Amino acid sequence: MTLTVRQKIFICMGLLVLILGGSHAVTNLVYMESLFDQFRNEEIGAAFLNAPPEEQIEILKTYVVGKMELFWLGKWGFFIATGLFFSLWISGVLTLPLRKLVAAIERVAKGDLEVSVPVQSKDEYGKVIQTFNDMTLRLREAEDARRRLVADVTHELRTPLSIMQLKLENYQQAGHPVPPEMLRIHDEVIRLSLLVEDLHVLSLAEAGRLSLDCKPLDLTAHLERIVDDVKFEAEENGLDIRLHTNARPITVMADARRIAQVFINLLTNAIRYTAAGGKITVEIEDRVVEQNALFARVSVIDTGIGIPEEDLLHLFDRFYRVEEARSRHTGGAGLGLSIAHHFVRAHGGFIRVSSQPNEGTIFTVYLPLNNP
Ligand SMILES: Nc1ncnc2c1ncn2[C@@H]1O[C@H](COP(=O)(O)OP(=O)(O)OP(=O)(O)O)[C@@H](O)[C@H]1O
Ligand SMILES: [Mg+2]
Repeated sequence: MTLTVRQKIFICMGLLVLILGGSHAVTNLVYMESLFDQFRNEEIGAAFLNAPPEEQIEILKTYVVGKMELFWLGKWGFFIATGLFFSLWISGVLTLPLRKLVAAIERVAKGDLEVSVPVQSKDEYGKVIQTFNDMTLRLREAEDARRRLVADVTHELRTPLSIMQLKLENYQQAGHPVPPEMLRIHDEVIRLSLLVEDLHVLSLAEAGRLSLDCKPLDLTAHLERIVDDVKFEAEENGLDIRLHTNARPITVMADARRIAQVFINLLTNAIRYTAAGGKITVEIEDRVVEQNALFARVSVIDTGIGIPEEDLLHLFDRFYRVEEARSRHTGGAGLGLSIAHHFVRAHGGFIRVSSQPNEGTIFTVYLPLNNP
């Protein structure tokens, strides 16, 4: 069993209070009894009871010790209750800055760098919190610099790449005999252009600078077109692809181009990672309530190879691929899900994933509905 620092302090102080309180009460009782033994040996002048003197002492002793027991029990109870309350309070006070720091560290571990903990003392806690704040500031600056660098580099690379692509295409269209190496170079230039374009939009989305052209969009009709576009590729891979909906039209305020890329990325993955004979289903639901808001929900369900549980946490990280070896032959860069995640977030929605290895995967996209 793992105990928090607060629990440990509470238990230690509680034990201390119990031992001190207990021994205090016991010594007091022993002392009282020895006091009456002393009385027994002394001569008492007044016979205030009819009983013989030894019995008078016994009667007095029973009476007083009974009273004292009650008195000490009450005192002991009070002492214990006060001590425990004090322990609880002191352990809470002592560990409060630590608990705030732990909560902040957990947020940083999840990727949220916009955290800062108020420094409220100049003791060790104060120094640790100040160092933590300086560290997250540095991380934020480094992350901003990285995003700017990727955005700038990809921006600069786009123009020469499109010139190269254009020149290669013009050469082929001019009817010159095209050597196989040149075709290979053309393919690689196209691949590189797509990668640079993916990195460029991803860096814009990460920096919150993605421009969206949001208009009312009939999601059902849009998805029908997208499924139609990938149907050929799916059927070529021996897959059955279907779309189900319980309502139409479902209108969302969205950028049709960006939303198309989200579902193309999800469907391309489903096609890539499902063996021939498998099934891909797209389900659209209207007016789903999540976190007290209304959403349109689209699930992309496949019967493919699935994703191990330990990989689910990092799935939306850029360049993350499950088992490099297993997906190397697909040629993907590991950017598709990251782009989908950022595009959906830019629309105010979110994506969830659930998967069973060797059984299949479900990606669920939630897009906010503006019409209550
Ligand atoms: N439907 C799925 N079934 C099984 N594994 C999946 C599925 N979707 C994604 N994955 C795993 O998640 C990883 C990340 O997916 P992502 O789309 O980001 O990258 P990619 O498909 O490898 O490359 P890219 O999309 O950039 O071409 C994939 O490499 C794959 O291992
Ligand atoms: Mg992909």
